[in-house]
Amino acid sequence: MKLRETLCNISYGMYIVCSRNGSGTDTRCNGQIVNTVVQVSAEPPSLAVSIHKRNLTHEYLMASRVMTVTVLNKDATLAFMGPWGFKSGRDVDKFRGVRTLMGRTGVPVVLDYGISYFEAEIVGTMDAFTHTIFLARIVEAEPIAPGEPLTYLCYHELKKGKTPMNAATFIRAETPVATAPPQPAPVHSAAGAAPLKETTAMKKYTCKLCGYVYDPAQGDPDNGVKPGTAFEQVPDTWVCPICGADKTEFEPES
Ligand SMILES: Cc1cc2nc3c(=O)[nH]c(=O)nc-3n(C[C@H](O)[C@H](O)[C@H](O)COP(=O)(O)O)c2cc1C
Repeated sequence: MKLRETLCNISYGMYIVCSRNGSGTDTRCNGQIVNTVVQVSAEPPSLAVSIHKRNLTHEYLMASRVMTVTVLNKDATLAFMGPWGFKSGRDVDKFRGVRTLMGRTGVPVVLDYGISYFEAEIVGTMDAFTHTIFLARIVEAEPIAPGEPLTYLCYHELKKGKTPMNAATFIRAETPVATAPPQPAPVHSAAGAAPLKETTAMKKYTCKLCGYVYDPAQGDPDNGVKPGTAFEQVPDTWVCPICGADKTEFEPES
């Protein structure tokens, strides 16, 4: 069975699903990245989404039975999507610094990198092994800003994004791994830094959140870090190109 090859041919978009829990002043909100939103009927208009049972968003969807869905555009960065897709609302406030509007369902709608949004009321659930499929009737649908939708393919192929284990479409073989096999010792250190003799002496660092490995031999040229830059010399403003974690989330490889 060619499961991996064939599953990769299914197309998806990229979305942020939000929900809430509690009421009044005790209302808490959370959201997460999903690629599994699909329209399932036109009359009435409805959506389905598959959410991992361990996610905080799952708990909130079960409790409130309402959600918002933001359709992400092609400009959405890994740094923006990282917390929504790799961190849990149990550990971080994903809404900090993010533009939102309050929907009529009492659930925030993420506006950053959004081209449109839906609000929906959950009318049914179905057990799907590790996940629950939520069937929801659309009660609101509005544009946010012009743009092209971000596809799952673009997220992977162009942005080099990864998918964590809790995603419905996680494929074990694509577990985040080192970016490249060991290379011959490179050239120079970052601008302004002392030349480094051998990068083999420089340690690789692993992101504790998503498993991305910073390899000094490769640097991160897409984000301004030249090959041959020791992790210690990477600017403190640099973030993990996969999940947006800052440098403090990295640990040296033993
Ligand atoms: C590209 C991508 C696609 C994802 N798709 C889904 C999905 O369809 N369903 C799901 O439950 N989780 C999906 N996830 C994982 C969740 O976003 C992730 O587990 C999140 O940290 C859950 O947060 P929460 O605990 O705050 O709800 C996806 C993540 C990424 C990066």
